[in-house]
Amino acid sequence: MSARASGARGRLQVKHKDLVRDEFTRQAADFAASPQIRDRDRIDRLIAITDPPRDARVLDVACGPGHVSLAFAEVCREVVGIDLTEAPLRIAEQSRQERNIANARFQLADADRIPFPDGHFDVVVCRFAVHHFDDPRRMVGEMARVCRVGGTVAIQDLISSEHSDRAEYYNRFERLRDTSHTRALALSELAQTIASAGLELMRFSSDQFDNPVERWLKTSQTPPDRAAEARAMIDRDLKEDLSGATPKRINGELFFTFHLATVCARKLPRRDRGTSG
Ligand SMILES: C[S@@+](CC[C@H](N)C(=O)[O-])C[C@H]1O[C@@H](n2cnc3c(N)ncnc32)[C@H](O)[C@@H]1O
Repeated sequence: MSARASGARGRLQVKHKDLVRDEFTRQAADFAASPQIRDRDRIDRLIAITDPPRDARVLDVACGPGHVSLAFAEVCREVVGIDLTEAPLRIAEQSRQERNIANARFQLADADRIPFPDGHFDVVVCRFAVHHFDDPRRMVGEMARVCRVGGTVAIQDLISSEHSDRAEYYNRFERLRDTSHTRALALSELAQTIASAGLELMRFSSDQFDNPVERWLKTSQTPPDRAAEARAMIDRDLKEDLSGATPKRINGELFFTFHLATVCARKLPRRDRGTSG
């Protein structure tokens, strides 16, 4: 990449990160309290599929209010949660103190440049954040870098359709709701991103749940004009089947389906990296 192109990319990234900080500063309290985010059964299933050793040193990337970090801390040796935004980190630290969890800590850091040496962690986990990243390959590459050879990288995220027009329709109404949403990847892209980071897929699970549109818009405090546009897109999707999010009305209330994928991958020795696809 030329110096000019890389300078332009850098400026775009800074702009995007400002959007992330704005959104998650405003949303911090409502996001942390959201039943879907707190859902302990879903977090326990993430821990079960990750299967961390008890003596694991764990990194939670883009940890937000720390629900995942603190659950891992209950079953592992040590957890560090990093996030770009201070407001959710303050909530994470407050819950840590309230729950008297001594083996977790939180710090401000960018997934783009994780401030730890190569191979520092046994397990690296990242939930619901890849769709906010402006460069998922680079960030998953960073997760792989700080994981030890043979350690586990576990990613849980929203996924979109394998059909690009349908995926783009879905990502468009997500972006209207939250300007820091970049793009939920298709499952095949997530798998390819993992492979190109020198990771080998070990376990996989999928899940879906009905998302109530009005609560979703309230959590993000989306301004009325953008909320109206997102609602109109979802309504049209309900009638015309445009995104794969299969909107529906239940007792008059509008929902659409979140499709989630969880992938657990093992970091390969250097000799086996770089041979994917
Ligand atoms: C939807 S929240 C998920 C929080 C948490 N992982 C959870 O599942 O509860 C997304 C989080 O990603 C963080 N984030 C987005 N881009 C980031 C980056 N480049 N580096 C670190 N954190 C980032 C945001 O600040 C926000 O807290």
